[in-house]
Amino acid sequence: MVRACGLGLLLALLLPMVGTSMPGTVVRINKAALSYVSAIGKAPLQRALQVTLPYFLDRSGEMLQTTRIQILNVHVPRLHLKFVADFGVRLLAAANFNFKVFRAPDPLELMLPVVLLADARVAQGPIQTPVISISACYSLFGNASVPDGGNSTSPALLVLLQKHIKAVLSNKLCLSVSNLVQGLNVHLGTLIGLNPVGPESQMRYSMVNVPTVTNDYISLDINAVLFLLGKPIVLPVDATAFVLPRHVGTKGTMATVGLSQDLFDSALLLLQKAGALNLDITGQLNSDDNLLNTSALGRLIPEVARQFPKPMPVVLKVRLGATPIATLHTNNATLQLQPFIEVLAVASNSAFQSLFSLDVVVNLSLQLSVSKVRLQGTTSVLGDVQITVASSNVGTIDMDQVHALMGTVFEKPLIDHLNALLGMGIALPSVVNLHYASPKVFVYEGYAVVSSGLLYQR
Ligand SMILES: *[C@@H]1O[C@H](CO)[C@@H](O)[C@H](O)[C@H]1NC(C)=O
Ligand SMILES: *[C@@H]1O[C@H](CO)[C@@H](O)[C@H](O)[C@H]1NC(C)=O
Ligand SMILES: *[C@@H]1O[C@H](CO)[C@@H](O)[C@H](O)[C@H]1NC(C)=O
Ligand SMILES: *[C@@H]1O[C@H](CO)[C@@H](O)[C@H](O)[C@H]1NC(C)=O
Ligand SMILES: *[C@@H]1O[C@H](CO)[C@@H](O)[C@H](O)[C@H]1NC(C)=O
Repeated sequence: MVRACGLGLLLALLLPMVGTSMPGTVVRINKAALSYVSAIGKAPLQRALQVTLPYFLDRSGEMLQTTRIQILNVHVPRLHLKFVADFGVRLLAAANFNFKVFRAPDPLELMLPVVLLADARVAQGPIQTPVISISACYSLFGNASVPDGGNSTSPALLVLLQKHIKAVLSNKLCLSVSNLVQGLNVHLGTLIGLNPVGPESQMRYSMVNVPTVTNDYISLDINAVLFLLGKPIVLPVDATAFVLPRHVGTKGTMATVGLSQDLFDSALLLLQKAGALNLDITGQLNSDDNLLNTSALGRLIPEVARQFPKPMPVVLKVRLGATPIATLHTNNATLQLQPFIEVLAVASNSAFQSLFSLDVVVNLSLQLSVSKVRLQGTTSVLGDVQITVASSNVGTIDMDQVHALMGTVFEKPLIDHLNALLGMGIALPSVVNLHYASPKVFVYEGYAVVSSGLLYQR
C-alpha cells in the first residue's frame, strides 16, 4: 500500500509535464449506485460503530462503583444515501446498539436506538482523485430499553447510564464515520494506478477537475495519461474537453462511462507507437497452414519463378506506419488499418530478399465489450481489402491476380493478431476491487458509452 501511494505521488509529480491535451472520459455515478453502496455499506458501518466505551462511574450508591460497559452488537437496519447538488452525499442511518452493563450482582442488557446524519462533501484531492470529507455529523439518540424486562433496574440508574452512553457515543460515532470515509478515500486513491495497454505501454487515469454533483448523479471528468516505455507521451491531437450528454446508455444503471473519440485515438496511437500492431508472417515449406512460397507466387509473377527455380519460403513483414483510425457512428464502430507489407523470399544463402511491397487499406468492423474493468474489442473485415503495389524488384505485378492470394495470406494472421491485442483491451477508470457488472457498450456519433452495474469484490 505504501509503495502504491509512493508511486501515485511520483506520477502526480509527472503530470504538469504532460500538458492539458489529454483524452477524456466521464464517469457518472447514478442514484442506483448509492442504493448499492447503502446495501453493501451496512456491514462495514456496523463494524465501524462498534466502539469501545469507558467505564461508567456510578455515584448513586454509598460507594463509587466502576462498571464496564460493552457494545455487544450494532445492527443497522436502514442506511440511506442521497446526492446533494453542488455538494456531495447525505447519509442517514438508523442503528440499534445493544450494550452489556457488567453490574454486580446481575449484568444488565440495554438497547439504544440511534439515528446518524452526516453530510459528506465530494471534492478533488491533491493527487487528482476524488476525496470525501465529513463536513457535518449528528447522532440523535432514542430512549434506552431493557430487553429482558429489567424489573431489577432502578429508573434512576437507567437515566445515568443513558447519559453516560450518549455523552460518549455522540463524539465517537461521528469519528467512526470519519474514519470509515478515510478508508474509502485510500481506496478511491487507487484510481490513479498504472494499467498496461500493450507491451511497453501503460495508461493511468486521474480526475482533472472538481466533481459535478446534481441531485441525480455525481460526474467525474477523468483523463487518461499514456506512457510508452515509462515516459508520458504527448498527443499530437489537441483534445477538446469531452462532454457526456445527459440521457445516454441504459436508464437506471449505477454507472455511465463516456469514452471520447480521443481515448480511442490515443490507445491506438500507443499501440502503434509501441510497435504492438506490427507482425511478421513467416511461412514454412510443406506445411498445411502456409499458402505462400516462391513457386506459388512464381505462377502469378514470372520474374519470381525465374529468380527462384526451387520453391523457397516467403515472409511478409506487416508494418503499421500510420495510426489506425477508429470511427464511431451511432451503433457502428469501425477501424481502418493501412498496413505496409513487404514481401520477402528466403534466398539460397538464407538471406532475405525483398520481392515487392504493398500498400494496404483494410476496413474492419469493431465490436466493443467490457469484461471486469477492461474495454475490449473484436474486429472482422468489412468489405474489400484494397491492395496496391508500392514497389517491386520483380517487374510488373498484375494485382488482379495477386490480390486474392495476398489477401488470404495476410488477412487472417493480421486479424488474429489485432484481436488478440484488442482482446486484452484497455482498463476503464476503476478502483481496486471494483468491477463493472453486466456492462453494455453503446456507440454514438464520436463517442462510446458503457452502462454498467458495479460490483465490489474483495
Ligand atoms: C424518551 O422518553 C422520554 C421520557 O419518557 C419521552 O419524553 C421522550 O419522548 C422519549 N423519546 C423518544 C425518542 O422516544
Ligand atoms: C422480575 O425479576 C425476577 C428475578 O429476576 C423474576 O423472577 C421475575 O419474573 C421478574 N418479573 C418480571 C415481570 O419480569
Ligand atoms: C507452395 O504453395 C502451394 C500453394 O499453396 C502449395 O500447394 C505447395 O505445396 C507449396 N510448396 C511447398 C514446397 O511448400
Ligand atoms: C457501419 O459503417 C460501415 C462503414 O461506414 C458500413 O459499411 C456499414 O454498413 C455500417 N453498418 C451498420 C450496421 O450500419
Ligand atoms: C474504407 O472505408 C472508408 C470510409 O467508409 C471508405 O471511404 C473506403 O473506400 C473504404 N475502403 C475499403 C478498402 O473498403
